[in-house]
Amino acid sequence: MENFLQPVKDQYEAYPYPQRNPKDELKMLWSTYGCNLLEMNYYCFGGKETFQNGFRVLDAGGGTGDSTIFLAEQLRDMKGAEVVYADISTASMDIAKERARIRGLTNITFIQKSILDFPKAKEMGKFDYVTCSGVLHHLEDSDAGLAALKSVLKEGGAMGIMVYGKYGRTGIYQMQDLMRLVNGDEESMAKKIANAKGVVSSLPASNWVKMAENLAPDHKTFGDIGYYDLFLHSHDRCFDIPGLYTWIEKQGLHLTEFAITEWRNMLDPEMFIKDQNLLKIVKSYDIKKQRAIMEILVGNIFKHTVYASSMENPKASLDDLDMVPFFHGISPSNVYEFMENNPGRQIIFNHKNGHKITINPQPYTKMIFKYLDGNRTFKEIFEQIHQDLKDETVTDEKLMVDFKSMFETFIKLDWMLIRHKSVSKMPELNELQSRMIKLNTQAA
Ligand SMILES: C[S@@+](CC[C@H](N)C(=O)[O-])C[C@H]1O[C@@H](n2cnc3c(N)ncnc32)[C@H](O)[C@@H]1O
Repeated sequence: MENFLQPVKDQYEAYPYPQRNPKDELKMLWSTYGCNLLEMNYYCFGGKETFQNGFRVLDAGGGTGDSTIFLAEQLRDMKGAEVVYADISTASMDIAKERARIRGLTNITFIQKSILDFPKAKEMGKFDYVTCSGVLHHLEDSDAGLAALKSVLKEGGAMGIMVYGKYGRTGIYQMQDLMRLVNGDEESMAKKIANAKGVVSSLPASNWVKMAENLAPDHKTFGDIGYYDLFLHSHDRCFDIPGLYTWIEKQGLHLTEFAITEWRNMLDPEMFIKDQNLLKIVKSYDIKKQRAIMEILVGNIFKHTVYASSMENPKASLDDLDMVPFFHGISPSNVYEFMENNPGRQIIFNHKNGHKITINPQPYTKMIFKYLDGNRTFKEIFEQIHQDLKDETVTDEKLMVDFKSMFETFIKLDWMLIRHKSVSKMPELNELQSRMIKLNTQAA
């Protein structure tokens, strides 16, 4: 293995990240952003990926295996699907392997390799999807890292990438500066951690880390591993939103969407800007500038998790009536009844991000909800409505206008997605979670 930073490898050999106990696989499945197949299909593959024909995913810098395990569990029964895990750290890979063993996953290939060696590793083949979370900002050259990932991406393929955000990590970078001053020439990782603990316990309320204590509390969640990763990392760069777009586009890729719902919403001017005049000004700018403004206005975005694609617009399209709309993560079974009993009234959802989400039902919203069951296509839903209404002036186009007004709100929250009818229904996270628990209960 070549082409890696030795201090970075040393860190992840001593402190594999994130801290995971393989036995926890018997109790739960960690989900990771950018790796939910239902969302990935909508955002990256036009909702048309069946994942059945030898779908190949690469987890680059897979660490202790969260994304690898999550993907392999979802792809468990998909014909010919394969997850390739690559990392430079043996200790991290051993934990990921043990997690896979406990789960009985046989669709993972583990390789010890640096990302920067991918372009010449022809034996790896090419991938439909590459996930790389929290790794590229630790390379000596993040541009070369992204180019290396692109070199193993199939035409039409996509990536899920997480890199650090500039403004949300203000306190962390101050802390890293502080620890460099305190630690001087100290080489022992354990002593550096002990010093960092001493510093953290001495922070006054005025310190930036203290002020944003619960923003990225890895040092509290993961102990020594978190202390090192957050405050003592030997190589750590960050991106602001304009820099993120430039970095991705320089490789001929397109930033398709921000993958974390709550944070995508934070970049939406309408979620925060109350002053209508200011809102008008901000919304007059292109989307990149709107998001650049919101990143600073909001202030606490410490990671950017994005889908990047070789295609300009890989999202699923509402223009195809063979698409199946389905609820995702929520099942608002009582919405139809609410509309039936409260004609014309607004529906207000309380989102976990603290915002109130309002839907103003349009003339046909109720009927769409009545037939939207996660199996019917738009064509089938609309046919049912036509049969009920027997009114030739109500066209598919009119029904779609009403659907779109509802979908625009739901998609912001990832509460509803669409997939092509050729793609079979796939399990939601709660169903995947209960898989292992069910197996264990049966085995007990
Ligand atoms: C912060 S951890 C992230 C782990 C995992 N992706 C996650 O999000 O849970 C960074 C990982 O990148 C790996 N890494 C660092 N440099 C690498 C390189 N040049 N090639 C492959 N992996 C690398 C480290 O060994 C470590 O496991």
